[in-house]
Amino acid sequence: MADIRSIEELDAQGKRVLVRVDFNVPVDDAGNVTDDTRIRAALPTIERLLDQGARVILASHRGRPAGEGFEEAFSLAPAAGRLAELIGRDVALAADTVGEGAQAKVAAMEPGDVVLLENVRFDKREKKNDPAFAEALAALADAYVNDAFGTAHRAHASTAGVAALLPAYAGYLMQREVGTLTGMLDEPKRPFVAILGGSKVSDKIKVIDALMEKADVLIIGGGMCFTFLLAQGYAVGTSLKEDDWVAAAGDMLAKAEQRGVKLLLPVDVVVADAFANDARTEVVAADAMPEGMMGLDIGPKTAALYADAIAGAASVFWNGPMGVFEMPSFEAGTKAVAEAVAANQGADTIIGGGDSVAAVNKFDLADAMTFISTGGGASMELVQGEALPGVEALRR
Ligand code: 3PG
Repeated sequence: MADIRSIEELDAQGKRVLVRVDFNVPVDDAGNVTDDTRIRAALPTIERLLDQGARVILASHRGRPAGEGFEEAFSLAPAAGRLAELIGRDVALAADTVGEGAQAKVAAMEPGDVVLLENVRFDKREKKNDPAFAEALAALADAYVNDAFGTAHRAHASTAGVAALLPAYAGYLMQREVGTLTGMLDEPKRPFVAILGGSKVSDKIKVIDALMEKADVLIIGGGMCFTFLLAQGYAVGTSLKEDDWVAAAGDMLAKAEQRGVKLLLPVDVVVADAFANDARTEVVAADAMPEGMMGLDIGPKTAALYADAIAGAASVFWNGPMGVFEMPSFEAGTKAVAEAVAANQGADTIIGGGDSVAAVNKFDLADAMTFISTGGGASMELVQGEALPGVEALRR
């Protein structure tokens, strides 16, 4: 990141600083933020700017509104409330993003004030990276800091366009995310064990392919393992499978063999007669899955095999659950993997966003991990070797 200006190079005193954060956080029916991880992750950047006496203007999206103006369900009001609690100061929520409401709030700011603009995606020009929208954002500020790693894979006006219009800097979270993930890929401590789960091979094939070049051991779980089991010639009952991707899964198995990467697949599976927590379940060998039943978790022998591989790792990257961990009947595999990663305190353990973070939180193991990424899609694209527009836009 040598060619990217760090927030440390910004003398923010008295300046209006536009900070792109990722406050795309879950909110319950009562309007409370149910997981404030992303808000807390942005605090070092926000607090540094406040300590310097900046006027801090925050911009974020939340969810995927239509882009036709304000929608209550996607308002950033809950995030404003939570941020105010965390920083112990008022956070003024603007009624719009770049319109009169925002302009008036920004014009009234004193050093040390915080304004949160309303959801940038209420304006359809955001996702189009529309130059006029980027200019309107830039007109609110003297400098720009991007701390929204979770949205760095989007080339939008608030993540890419605006960076060309103001002196632009990477915030602390952005630096830490990119630094940690890039460091893991460039110089992993060996053995490097990558654990990949999730439902679809089609979603993960590029990540699997990229990690095949880096990892010593590749562990596969989750719904996508059934497409791999098909590639091994096994029957998978009514499990999730992608027939169009069986050949690609087979290619991955061959590639692992050629490269000397140990690719681990389930040797046993928890099958169920329905996709329900109270379904009738059975543990069966991976090559003996009964017709009419679906695999919803890895079995205990597999969990032990995976835990053993994880125990021997010097670095671990994990993305994607091993089974339907949201249902207690099918959480054991994911829990065993999470516990094994947490127990390996000698290793660098990096959790790559999304559902695996939810799993680590569910089993209360977050504190035992070296690093938990706030970006699901962004961390996957980075691991795949793709350039992130939000990062590229910050290059000098
Ligand atoms: C995320 O939650 O992954 C980020 O906030 C990006 O959201 P998006 O997928 O709607 O662009």
